[in-house]
Amino acid sequence: MIGIDGKTAVVTGAGQGIGRDVALALASYGADVAAVDVNETGAGGTAALVREAGRDSAAFRCDVGDAADVERCVREILAWRPVVHFLVNNAGIARDNLLVRMSDAEWESVIRVNLTGTFNVTKAFSRSMMKNRFGRIVNVSSIIGVMGNAGQANYAASKAGVIGFTKAVAKELAGRNVLVNAVAPGFIETAMTAALPEERKEWMRQQIPLGRFGSGKDVAAVALFLLSDLGSYVTGQVIHCDGGMVMS
Ligand SMILES: NC(=O)c1ccc[n+]([C@@H]2O[C@H](COP(=O)([O-])OP(=O)(O)OC[C@H]3O[C@@H](n4cnc5c(N)ncnc54)[C@H](O)[C@@H]3O)[C@@H](O)[C@H]2O)c1
Repeated sequence: MIGIDGKTAVVTGAGQGIGRDVALALASYGADVAAVDVNETGAGGTAALVREAGRDSAAFRCDVGDAADVERCVREILAWRPVVHFLVNNAGIARDNLLVRMSDAEWESVIRVNLTGTFNVTKAFSRSMMKNRFGRIVNVSSIIGVMGNAGQANYAASKAGVIGFTKAVAKELAGRNVLVNAVAPGFIETAMTAALPEERKEWMRQQIPLGRFGSGKDVAAVALFLLSDLGSYVTGQVIHCDGGMVMS
């Protein structure tokens, strides 16, 4: 197999969207999953789906932006499973506005969840991964963090921050066989993008060489590769999953 079977994964923002698809993809390859989300009902729904798929799963309510809450949650997860092999930092929010209209609250909330949340959860698991001499971490960034986007200064800054964080931590942890990579999705059909006006969506579709929006399953496939043995010589990388929208 590809080294997923029988291992334990933690997925944040697992209550819906990309996080749920990542959790189910991991389960389909034989991993047990801790489904972490600020939305307890969503996390519980994902855990139930993973169990239906034949793997063990538990739901954990946690606000990744709150360091104390993360510490508590990670203690509970490590009591459930003392060895965590995979971490997917997927929890994220958007609060779009033009810079001149962006409130401090819009700026701070997005940085807090997307960037500080990734820091909090990674820091909390890295010690035990280093001790175990094994770990695979995938951080969900965005092509917006690479190319920018009008109306998303907060989101772009947070996702660019995730990329820098990924590279720095990849260098720190490589010696302990803990690999850290990022996936940068393009336009993925989830609740986050559902609210965009049709005209805007059509304009975006025209910017995608493959001519279609992505799904959570497309992102999950890249995460699976990076977590599996197939990706064991890959660290500090940012893999775009965007239908060819950004080529670098
Ligand atoms: N949908 C896209 O087009 C797209 C593109 C690029 C990147 N992304 C990124 O992918 C990730 C998932 O996005 P999605 O489209 O599935 O969004 P979504 O809104 O459908 O799901 C996000 C999940 O994160 C959870 N969450 C939010 N704040 C949290 C917090 N403080 N603590 C814990 N959980 C929290 C939500 O409850 C929700 O279950 C995000 O990081 C997002 O920025 C999405």
